Amino acid sequence: MSEIKEAVRSRYANIARQLEVLPADSTAGCCQLDGPDCGCGGSYAREDLQGIGLSEGVSLGCGNPTMLAELKPGEVVLDLGSGAGLDVLLSARRVSPGGQAYGLDMTDEMLALANHNRDKAGVSNATFMKGSIDDIPLPDASVDVVISNCVINLAEDKAAVIREAHRVLRPGGRLAVADMVELEPLDAATKKRLDTWAGCISGTIPIDEYRAILLAAGFEEPEVEVHATQVVPGVGAVGSAYIRARKA
Ligand SMILES: C[S@@+](CC[C@H](N)C(=O)[O-])C[C@H]1O[C@@H](n2cnc3c(N)ncnc32)[C@H](O)[C@@H]1O
Repeated sequence: MSEIKEAVRSRYANIARQLEVLPADSTAGCCQLDGPDCGCGGSYAREDLQGIGLSEGVSLGCGNPTMLAELKPGEVVLDLGSGAGLDVLLSARRVSPGGQAYGLDMTDEMLALANHNRDKAGVSNATFMKGSIDDIPLPDASVDVVISNCVINLAEDKAAVIREAHRVLRPGGRLAVADMVELEPLDAATKKRLDTWAGCISGTIPIDEYRAILLAAGFEEPEVEVHATQVVPGVGAVGSAYIRARKA
């Protein structure tokens, strides 16, 4: 495992251990657990959260991709970097009856927590898989919607992740992602720091580069919409964005 990937894995293993002991009604989330550099803020509806018995506190994301995805009963959805499983469980409810939600994560501690949350919620159409988002363990053209929440920025090879998302989508399939993007160039020293990489800052890329990667992978109509900006004086600026695209 590369140095960056190991820094990411160990940070989220540690956070999973803290989330395990979080009270059910906590709103802590990544702002308290992950430090101020994470672009959190999920905007989940209370009734949706109540339906799966989880609080927004388990979200380490930077938006709510399930809102973007317009999921329908019967669809198959895949969440890249599923963490504690919030977006997978919400998606599983939305694609029911007949649909299936998969979560993919590389961190054992997160997978254990996600499985625990699924069992507690009594959701039967959600499956959590171990693996890396740049090598998705699903067949070609097997998924209707790929979602992800604040994860693609953590990958060293974002183009490989986007190519994999495109490969597993069926023709007409949708990509609906919340992610951090670089709005003003970060200084070179910050770009190299492992802690800020794992904290969703240093691995961010500019919006134009994101769009170019989506187009190069074969996606159509890529849209990137920034919904919150975080300026770090002397370092640069990043923002939480919603990213949507379609496979032809
Ligand atoms: C910032 S957290 C987001 C978790 C979840 N999406 C959420 O919104 O709460 C990042 C998650 O992605 C996982 N992750 C990071 N890089 C990954 C990779 N290359 N392959 C698989 N999982 C990865 C981490 O283990 C962690 O659970």
